[in-house]
Amino acid sequence: MQRRNFLALSGAGLAAAGLAACGGSDSGGGESSSSEVEVFTWWAQGSEKAGLDALVAQFEKDYPDLTFVNASVAGGAGSAAKDMLQSRLQAGDPPDTFQAHAGLELTDYIDAGQLEDVSALYEEYGLTDAFPEDLVTLLTVDEMIYSVPSNIHRSNVVWTNTAVLEAAGIDPTVVPADVEAFIADVEKAAASGVTGLSVGTTWTQVNLLEAVLMADLASTSYNGLWTGETDWSGSDVTTALEHFGALIALTNTDRDGLDWTDATQMLIDGTAAYNIMGDWAVASFQQADLVDGEDFGYFPLSGGEEIFGFLADSFTLPVGAPNPDGAKAWLDTISSQEGQVGFSLAKGSIPARTDVDTAEFPAYQQTAIDSYAQDAISPSLAHGAATPVAWLNDVSDATSKFTTGASDVAGYQDELAAIAESNTSA
Ligand code: GAL
Repeated sequence: MQRRNFLALSGAGLAAAGLAACGGSDSGGGESSSSEVEVFTWWAQGSEKAGLDALVAQFEKDYPDLTFVNASVAGGAGSAAKDMLQSRLQAGDPPDTFQAHAGLELTDYIDAGQLEDVSALYEEYGLTDAFPEDLVTLLTVDEMIYSVPSNIHRSNVVWTNTAVLEAAGIDPTVVPADVEAFIADVEKAAASGVTGLSVGTTWTQVNLLEAVLMADLASTSYNGLWTGETDWSGSDVTTALEHFGALIALTNTDRDGLDWTDATQMLIDGTAAYNIMGDWAVASFQQADLVDGEDFGYFPLSGGEEIFGFLADSFTLPVGAPNPDGAKAWLDTISSQEGQVGFSLAKGSIPARTDVDTAEFPAYQQTAIDSYAQDAISPSLAHGAATPVAWLNDVSDATSKFTTGASDVAGYQDELAAIAESNTSA
């Protein structure tokens, strides 16, 4: 049932986006005998770079004759990379492969005819049955598939600093029952003299917004926000936006200058009590040698229903890639059992493949594996699963206006409703 909601969303969303099958020839555009494979990501620093390094190590083992060329552009969630990529694609200068989120984000590239169909590789590498069926469905457009997933992340996780909570008189083992209870705890933490909830620049605020919307609306209504089935003007959305505003008021005031790493660093340093972020954050805690359950904790933000806020990183074969065979080699490595396990261990994600042994994965990832298998699935807005890029950009602008005080809840809600209207009728 819950899975069906998600599938319905992906199918309807892709159809609503009016996708035409584009793309070029089977083999990629440019010809090159180069051994270099240019890989474009935003995994430039810290634990994200460690994840990329794990993939590169596997790639060098799998393809010793090829040379990985790192074209990463720093900035969480691709905040700088996506614009840079757009310029390169428009200038006819694609990398051999680039990172993009599975889901509606891909529609922009597909509509623009910038991606090759890689469904033949699913056959060649035996991927169709290795990935969850709903993920393959999400990626399939008119019987073509335009990317290969490397991993699955969860977006709606609350991270806690245990000592800071205890000092504020909050029992770190008690999970707040709903968003109001969570806000009460954040207020209590803030009253103890730390930042209640750390957050960074606009995309991290949108990550917070989606977590609040998921928890307050529950999965069916949240998922309906992206298909036109849920009314953005409804009172449940008003409540969620009020909650979002209450939480923003409890965050650090320098948020707009910070990336997600800075916001999680505040937790690591003990200057903030809570942070809401995707589960790449756990890799930062692990890198800082914090001990799960002792130094830090986590729980999904919930209004009663357990929801897995879904996103998946994937890699593409751009039309005109100078080294399409090199790109296919990269796609082979990132989709292999070894590639997926090594990457997710370093990155805090879970493998997209279901046929790998995850028994040795750390405790946090075990919770994500269980949740992904059992809970309702809701697509992430901030990370390209729920909407095409244009819709996300509009929501980001409206959110920035709201969090900088340029609009109130009513104005923000009107704007979000108008954005939904224009993007679903486009
Ligand atoms: C997401 C991406 C993750 C992680 C995060 C922070 O969009 O899917 O892998 O990199 O951004 O940058």
